[in-house]
Amino acid sequence: MDTAPQGNAQKPATAARMYDYYLGGIHNFPADREAAEKVIAQFPFMPVLARANRAFLRRGVRHLVDAGVRQFLDLGSGIPTVGNVHEIAQENRPDTRVVYVDIDPVAVAESLEILDGNEWATAVRADLCNPRAVLDHSEVRRVLDLDQPIGLVMAAVLHFVPDDAEAYDVVAQFVSALAPGSYLLASHIAAESFMPTSDQMKTASDVYQRRTTTPVAARTRSDVQRFFAGLELLEPGVVWPHEWRPDEDVPAEFADNPQHSGGWVGVGRKI
Ligand SMILES: C[S@@+](CC[C@H](N)C(=O)[O-])C[C@H]1O[C@@H](n2cnc3c(N)ncnc32)[C@H](O)[C@@H]1O
Repeated sequence: MDTAPQGNAQKPATAARMYDYYLGGIHNFPADREAAEKVIAQFPFMPVLARANRAFLRRGVRHLVDAGVRQFLDLGSGIPTVGNVHEIAQENRPDTRVVYVDIDPVAVAESLEILDGNEWATAVRADLCNPRAVLDHSEVRRVLDLDQPIGLVMAAVLHFVPDDAEAYDVVAQFVSALAPGSYLLASHIAAESFMPTSDQMKTASDVYQRRTTTPVAARTRSDVQRFFAGLELLEPGVVWPHEWRPDEDVPAEFADNPQHSGGWVGVGRKI
């Protein structure tokens, strides 16, 4: 993707395009690949981890659609690759509405290109740390009915909100704006994955801090459970990605070292 348009070779790395690179996508530039390789040097299992997160997202969305959810607000949605929320949700229910939100203009532009002609899905550029701006966005209001249940997706994004008070407050504000019967589906980098080699985490974190505009912070399992405060946490609770209602074989990498799957995931229901 770095051959056109002109100037992409100089573009600084972004978290969205680095993630695309981990997933084997084509929507990344030289700076993204270089920064991502630095992270992979510390965590060789990063690409497997990204795919495990993506697989959890697919299973979680399918579960919510089966539970009757017909609208999704995907915060920090990234660059659309195969198995996106709208593809999964609209597979069985073509009228499912989806709004993708990302801070990265490239991710939003790519999303809009892919969604061209899809009347029930759109993408907007916004900072999830400003919930009111997201919820009041004209496109969000046009596509979603906030009086009806919504699947709020925050997959692999809350670790980009390093300040604890801000992260918990942001989630609480979104959840309080949702109708009963809504769900929060979240995944988050696990602090436990990187212990006791916390130097590795620091190196990876430094790559994000210096090369992208988004710093990153891992959290523990109990920290992640706190995001679901006040919600009914669905079984099996907050677990490693491959442990959440698996529908395929667990990668050998994770069977022996579950912490290598890198994140904590969970789904909670607003009563
Ligand atoms: C690792 S990707 C996750 C993509 C997708 N949710 C998934 O799990 O496959 C994280 C995304 O969050 C976005 N992001 C980071 N901070 C954000 C913020 N404050 N508001 C909106 N998006 C943000 C990044 O641009 C990136 O696209």
